[in-house]
Amino acid sequence: MSKFIQVAIDSPAAAGAGTQAKLIAKHYNLLYLDTGKIYRFIGNLKIKNKKEFNYNLVKKKIRKLKIHNLQSKVLLSNKVAIEASIVAKDKKIRKIVHNFQIKCAYRPSKKFSGSILDGRDITSVIMKNAMFKFFITANIKTRALRRYKELKLLNKRITYKEVLKSIKIRDKNDYNRKISPLKKTKDSILINTTNLTKRSCFLKIKQIMDKQLNN
Ligand code: C5P
Repeated sequence: MSKFIQVAIDSPAAAGAGTQAKLIAKHYNLLYLDTGKIYRFIGNLKIKNKKEFNYNLVKKKIRKLKIHNLQSKVLLSNKVAIEASIVAKDKKIRKIVHNFQIKCAYRPSKKFSGSILDGRDITSVIMKNAMFKFFITANIKTRALRRYKELKLLNKRITYKEVLKSIKIRDKNDYNRKISPLKKTKDSILINTTNLTKRSCFLKIKQIMDKQLNN
């Protein structure tokens, strides 16, 4: 019987976790959920519905949420990213998002060989017992430069300095919040992507996974 593969990844903003998660998902045929997009979706909901924004509205929207709804380009903006890291500090919001993530992590459709989730509390809360746990990081200037280039490709009007500032704000929010702060769990493997190409990073992760899968 083939193994049910579960991969949990945590990382600070723009460390390259999403890129790696997509490559791993494709290679091992896994359902991929970018959990940051859920918080961005809620952040955007708050921006759009300033007055009517409340927990019931969030519950209603998350109940109807499908993974493909998270692909909207609107969710990529810097403004939405910062709002996401603010709503993500709220315990009740995290509780609402919890079940959606659990369903993707533990009950992906039969066509997949498993699941891979990335975010801030995946290795510590959502998939504590995952077969593979990674903490992907890179130095802050590298992260800011990568995100700046991505946003430029999307024709967003933004400077490198603004991106760096927003990543610093989000790091502060994510590492220091009381509920589910970003941290490297003891059993997560550290991958520093600062001096790695996308390909070499993927090969490094693949080597670790294959070694265990072929055991
Ligand atoms: O990964 P991304 O940068 O899209 O995440 C946006 C924000 O969502 C993060 O800065 C973080 O505050 C929040 N987040 C979270 N828990 C997760 C994923 C993202 O708190 N599992």
